[in-house]
Amino acid sequence: MKLQGREVILGVGGGIAAYKSCDLLRRLQDRGYAITVVPTPSSLNFVGSATWEALSGRPVTTQVWESVHTVPHISLAERADFLLIAPATADLIARIAMGRADDLLTNLVLASDVPKMIVPAMHPSMWLDPATVANVQTLRSRGFVVLDPEVGRLTGKDVGAGRFPETATIIANFEEMTGQSQDLAGVNVLITAGGTREPIDPVRFIGNRSSGKQGIALAIAARNRGAKVTLIAANCETSQLRGIDVIQVETTAQMQLHLGEQFDHCNILIMSAAVADARPTHVSDGKIKKMALTTIELTTNPDLLSELASRKGNRVLVGFAAETSDHLKEARRKLDSKGLDVIYVNDVSGGAIFGQDTTMGTIVVRNEADIAVKEVSKDALSNTLLDHAIRQLG
Ligand code: CTP
Repeated sequence: MKLQGREVILGVGGGIAAYKSCDLLRRLQDRGYAITVVPTPSSLNFVGSATWEALSGRPVTTQVWESVHTVPHISLAERADFLLIAPATADLIARIAMGRADDLLTNLVLASDVPKMIVPAMHPSMWLDPATVANVQTLRSRGFVVLDPEVGRLTGKDVGAGRFPETATIIANFEEMTGQSQDLAGVNVLITAGGTREPIDPVRFIGNRSSGKQGIALAIAARNRGAKVTLIAANCETSQLRGIDVIQVETTAQMQLHLGEQFDHCNILIMSAAVADARPTHVSDGKIKKMALTTIELTTNPDLLSELASRKGNRVLVGFAAETSDHLKEARRKLDSKGLDVIYVNDVSGGAIFGQDTTMGTIVVRNEADIAVKEVSKDALSNTLLDHAIRQLG
C-alpha cells in the first residue's frame, strides 16, 4: 500500500557518510516515511545492498539494467513523493547538474518531478572548488534544496566545511520541504482505536466492525506533527507503530481503566474507538453449548467520554460517531451530552467506512457551522481533525 505523501527515495552517494544514512533511514521510518533506497554503484563500497534491503525492507537496485521488466527508473519515480540524496559526493552533484543518467539514481532524478533535497558531504577543498560551487548553484536555481555541509572534523585529520550534518538537522530540513510541521511538539495526545469486545464465554464475544484504521492514522499523524502519543488500542494491529506508546486492551472495562490513568496527562483526547455499549451480565467460565445459547442478558457499559467530561479542565475532547440515520442531529446531541469540543460523524449505513482506507462524513464543532468532508483518506482526515483540536486548544 502506498502511504499518502510519505514515499521517499533515499539516494546514497559514494562517500564515507553513507554509513550515517543508515541511521537517517531509521529515523525517517520512525516518522512514518516509507523508504526505497537507491545507492550509486560506488556507494556500495561503503554500505552494501544487503544492509539497505534489511533496513528498508525493500529490494535495492543501482542500475537500470536490473529488474528491467519493471522499468525501475519510471516506476520508482512515479511512486515517490520526495527524493532525498544523502550523502551526495562532488561527482554525484556534478552528474546531476549536467543532467547525466548513468545509473539508476541519476535516471530517477531526471524522471521524477517531486521535491528533491541533496545533502552534500565531501572534503572541504572539493566543496569549495569552483566547479562544485557552480554545480550547487545550478541545482539550487533548478529548485533542488541543497543543504550546506557542517563545519567540523572530517575523515582523517582535516577540519573544515564538508561534514555530513546531524540526522536531526537533515530531518528538520527535509520536513520543512515536505511541509510536515511540528505544531504538536510538547502536546500529549491520547487516542483510543479499534472496537472493544465483551466476552460471553471463553470462545465468544460481543464486538463491532471497527478496524482501528482511523485511530491508528490519527496516532501516526499526531506523532508526525511532534506530539507525544499514547494509543489505547482495542483489538487492532499495532505492531508496525514506532514512536507511539501503545496500550493493548480487549474489553470496555480495560479501556476505562487505562483511560482513567492516562487522561490526566493528556492535552487532547481523541475517542475514535467504538466502545461496546453493553456486556453480558454473566461471563461463563466454560463454553456455552449451542442448545443453551438462546438469550444473553446484558448490562449497559459506562459511557467513557461522559465519565471523563467532568475532569475535562482545559483539555480538548474529540469524539466520533457512526450513525445510520439523523447523523447531524445525533452528532450535535452527542457533542453536548458528552462534553465534546469536536465530533466527526460518518454515515455507516450498509457497513460503509469500516475497514476502508477512506472516509466521508461531517466535522461538527461546538458553536460553529458543520463542515462536510468529501471522500478523503483516513490520514488526511486525521490531519484535519488535529488542526481543529489544536485550534480548540488555543
Ligand atoms: N463512547 C464512549 N463510551 C461508550 C460509548 C461510546 O466513550 N460507552 C464514545 C465513542 O468512543 C465515541 C462517542 O462516544 O467517540 C460516540 O460513540 P457512539 O457509539 O456513536 O455513541 P453512543 O453514546 O454509544 O450512542 P448510540 O446510542 O448511538 O450507540
